[in-house]
Amino acid sequence: MDHSDSRRKPHFLGKVLMAAILTALCIFILKQSPGFIGDSALKTLCCRNAEFYNYGNISIFLNIWMDHSDSRRKPHFLGKVLMAAILTALCIFILKQSPGFIGDSAFSRHEPGVTHVLVTGGAGYIGSHAALRLLKDSYRVTIVDNLSRGNIGAVKVLRELFPEPGRLQFIYADLAVAYVGESTLEPLRYYHNITANTLVILEAMAAHGVKTLIYSSTCATYGEPEKMPITEETPQFPINPYGKAKKMAEDMILDFSKNSDMAVMILRYFNVIGSDPEGRLGEAPRPELREHGRISGACFDAALGIIPGLKVKGTDYPTADGTCIRDYIDVTDLVDAHVKALDKASPNKVGIYNVGTGKGRSVKEFVEACKKATGANIKVDYLDRRPGDYAEVYSDPSKINRELNWTAQYTDLQECLSIAWRWQKSHRNGYGSPSVMKVKGTDYPTADGTCIRDYIDVTDLVDAHVKALDKASPNKVGIYNVGTGKGRSVKEFVEACKKATGANIKVDYLDRRPGDYAEVYSDPSKINRELNWTAQYTDLQECLSIAWRWQKSHRNGYGSPSVMKV
Ligand SMILES: *[C@@H]1O[C@H](CO)[C@@H](O)[C@H](O)[C@H]1NC(C)=O
Ligand SMILES: *[C@@H]1O[C@H](CO)[C@@H](O)[C@H](O)[C@H]1NC(C)=O
Ligand SMILES: *[C@@H]1O[C@H](CO)[C@@H](O)[C@H](O)[C@H]1NC(C)=O
Ligand SMILES: *[C@@H]1O[C@H](CO)[C@@H](O)[C@H](O)[C@H]1NC(C)=O
Ligand SMILES: *[C@@H]1O[C@H](CO)[C@@H](O)[C@H](O)[C@H]1NC(C)=O
Repeated sequence: MDHSDSRRKPHFLGKVLMAAILTALCIFILKQSPGFIGDSALKTLCCRNAEFYNYGNISIFLNIWMDHSDSRRKPHFLGKVLMAAILTALCIFILKQSPGFIGDSAFSRHEPGVTHVLVTGGAGYIGSHAALRLLKDSYRVTIVDNLSRGNIGAVKVLRELFPEPGRLQFIYADLAVAYVGESTLEPLRYYHNITANTLVILEAMAAHGVKTLIYSSTCATYGEPEKMPITEETPQFPINPYGKAKKMAEDMILDFSKNSDMAVMILRYFNVIGSDPEGRLGEAPRPELREHGRISGACFDAALGIIPGLKVKGTDYPTADGTCIRDYIDVTDLVDAHVKALDKASPNKVGIYNVGTGKGRSVKEFVEACKKATGANIKVDYLDRRPGDYAEVYSDPSKINRELNWTAQYTDLQECLSIAWRWQKSHRNGYGSPSVMKVKGTDYPTADGTCIRDYIDVTDLVDAHVKALDKASPNKVGIYNVGTGKGRSVKEFVEACKKATGANIKVDYLDRRPGDYAEVYSDPSKINRELNWTAQYTDLQECLSIAWRWQKSHRNGYGSPSVMKV
């Protein structure tokens, strides 16, 4: 029915393609041009990318990414729960006193006391929360993201909250394409995306006199420590490519910082959950990424009925209730740690900190908190252990507490999940365009002014086919209309739809669309007479109710069922 959408899609894809091509071009130029920050030629060229989203000017290209989705295929990978900590590789560095940043646009003008922060992956879950906090604290923020994991919707929210020119700019860019060969082997992609991109960032920082780096690392760099809790002195023996790539990136940063006066802060995250307490941002993985998602995402998907339930792998670990223990850190606290790290960063100093609550919670506890937070009776399957998972991981956050005066505030698991659930409930479509039904034309010569159509249920339609098959005979041609014979107006349809779904559907009544006609309905008497066929499902609301039942339990369509694995 909705022609407008189908028309827009190819257009959008076209634009994305164009953006990708332009990005490739930009990166080419970037490699040619040493002073790429504030380079006006680059700006002119690349602004077209940015203009596509209308989010400002280009000034720098950097992007660090990690990709979890590949990780679960590997036998030695960390548990899903641990993976949850690190959805978005996030790297913040400050363009404070960066000479290259002084340009001609409102954004790049350097004002004393104003700090520019570049957030890579800033359209993602953690990155967008970091950008929100930085903007609130009067930083100027440049978000760089290639939108493969991030949501332009999150950038739009930030844009609306901070519309003043020069506060926030978004750059669509993907440095990785310049580095990653298409034939790169699976584990090597981690080293490309994480380690190689970190190298690129360091080089760019050196070239442009950027002096401060807040680097997002992970507790995965510790591997499988023998002693809990994990302190910053716990030996790092990462056991999977992700952890190893992050460890190598850390080493590179540390080596680089030795020969410079850089200020470096490395934050090692534990399992990140939650969302903005004011409900402005949330976590919205793309449908195709959901099944690789984090434990909190699985909890919400189960509560929404998108997945049938939760699967807990391993109930015989040497823990109090037999399930794994992890350290869940709220994203608001995590972002606060970044800002505190930023405040305390000083030249020639390196700070390395664990960011966790210091308290381990079992997966069972998590599931219970999830049930309470969502109010949903979530089905939980307890399965066998998965190889490579370890029983217990939690942090000792006393160093960050002591040195940065940071303590986790959101330590009530159920409360964190309730906050995130509020956003999830009211953003079932993620950052997608709000679902508004568009009714085009209310001034047709019909009873209620909207168009009239003949809606035939697919079960009746199929029945007509079978009856036609039965009656088909050699040397005969039968031609039949298959409709109910009753016309219903679009307004009637909308009302039936509201009743069938129980949802308060928002409807925009717009002008007519050219080419639509007022009334179309069939006379089915010939098929009735000759094939003894009559439509049985003629109650519009009932038809829609039946269809709605399927929709509700198949939000992922026929896509692979998204099942959380713990
Ligand atoms: C982008 O640059 C142009 C010209 O340099 C300037 O007029 C405009 O305000 C800038 N936009 C933003 C969002 O900074
Ligand atoms: C690394 O980047 C490439 C392309 O840029 C992408 O296809 C791949 O999925 C990424 N892999 C990981 C492990 O992040
Ligand atoms: C964005 O970057 C990631 C990681 O480098 C890569 O896997 C992905 O293919 C990129 N997506 C686009 C649209 O460029
Ligand atoms: C540490 O943080 C607390 C609460 O956030 C604050 O009240 C206190 O003044 C801070 N202490 C220092 C030394 O900054
Ligand atoms: C026509 O269909 C009705 C109901 O489907 C059935 O009861 C009736 O026997 C059929 N008549 C003939 C002639 O097949």
